[in-house]
Amino acid sequence: MDNKMKYRVLVVGCGTISHEWFPVLKKRPDCEICGVVDINPEAAKERTATYEVECPIYEDYKIAIDELKPDVVVDLTFPKCHHDITVYALRSGCHVFGEKPMAMNREDALDMLKTAKETGKFYDVLQNRRFLTGVREMKEAIRNGMLGDIWMTCCEIYVNADLSGGRNSLTHPMLQDQAIHSFDTARFILGCDATTVYAHSYNPKGSPYNGDGSGACIFEMQDGSVLVFNAVMGTSFLKTAWHSQWRVIGNRGTMTWNGFDDHAVCELMKEDGTIERTNIEANWKGIAWHEGAIDEMFTDLTAGVISEGSCYNNYGSVAMEFAALESVAAGAKVEVK
Ligand SMILES: NC(=O)c1ccc[n+]([C@@H]2O[C@H](COP(=O)([O-])OP(=O)(O)OC[C@H]3O[C@@H](n4cnc5c(N)ncnc54)[C@H](O)[C@@H]3O)[C@@H](O)[C@H]2O)c1
Repeated sequence: MDNKMKYRVLVVGCGTISHEWFPVLKKRPDCEICGVVDINPEAAKERTATYEVECPIYEDYKIAIDELKPDVVVDLTFPKCHHDITVYALRSGCHVFGEKPMAMNREDALDMLKTAKETGKFYDVLQNRRFLTGVREMKEAIRNGMLGDIWMTCCEIYVNADLSGGRNSLTHPMLQDQAIHSFDTARFILGCDATTVYAHSYNPKGSPYNGDGSGACIFEMQDGSVLVFNAVMGTSFLKTAWHSQWRVIGNRGTMTWNGFDDHAVCELMKEDGTIERTNIEANWKGIAWHEGAIDEMFTDLTAGVISEGSCYNNYGSVAMEFAALESVAAGAKVEVK
């Protein structure tokens, strides 16, 4: 892309998460929002007014793509829409940057990967938790061998209910909507994929969710370690961050990150046999959260580089979700594929 050119971006979906995208897209010098789509035109009108975007508003993404021919389609709709919008946009010659989770089932996700490959267009999935200091610190400590061989990683979420955005229409809101953040973070910090999972999901008595808002999964990872995930959504007490609280145990030490404070903490055995506790301070100086993830997408697109958020990488995270759902249905340990 020429330095002076701007990507013409079509935003599809003006719900809650669009508040994270509009300010970033607005301030990027390499972007111009050329159109906005929502099946609810009032939502689109409200967002364009709030963020002072002057562009046409559409209710049908196909008409918007056909008429505007954008360079990039940003898909911020419900997960059940991601497949159709992404495939249509890719086949129309657009790159797609979308929200997690990629799709509701493996067949759709694989079709999206196949379409991205066939069209040669970029399809990236936003995973904002990778752009947090604590997550970068955990990754760095594991990568540099501080903890030795990794034995076990545990991530836990205990949070209030989030019934916005159609979540309460999902049969397994915890596994279908929320878990992917922790699954993706685990793959990111450990640097490997999951091979098997045994999962149990449930809806506690009195839960505000209609579907299963709680559950636990045990994954076997490619590096031989075990990942334990435990989530209860809909509790108001002694809550964790939505990023999970983390514990990673290796043969040389243990690291924790509470998901709130900036620094992960590590305990290691010193040569004299005493235990030393230290904050881990990674050299990461990247841009945090959505802005960091969006910056990576555009920077890598311009450079022609397949980014960390590419669908080819992200499939490993959504595959954990699909396998966990299959394990719940089968009541058995299943392969992650
Ligand atoms: N990365 C994160 O931290 C994070 C946080 C929240 C949500 N999300 C993800 O963002 C996506 C959107 O979530 P949300 O909370 O903003 O949901 P939401 O329900 O608030 O917004 C979705 C919007 O999309 C519109 N829409 C639905 N189908 C459409 C279609 N076919 N064409 C055009 N518009 C359509 C809806 O009218 C609505 O305005 C989901 O995939 C969700 O998982 C990510």
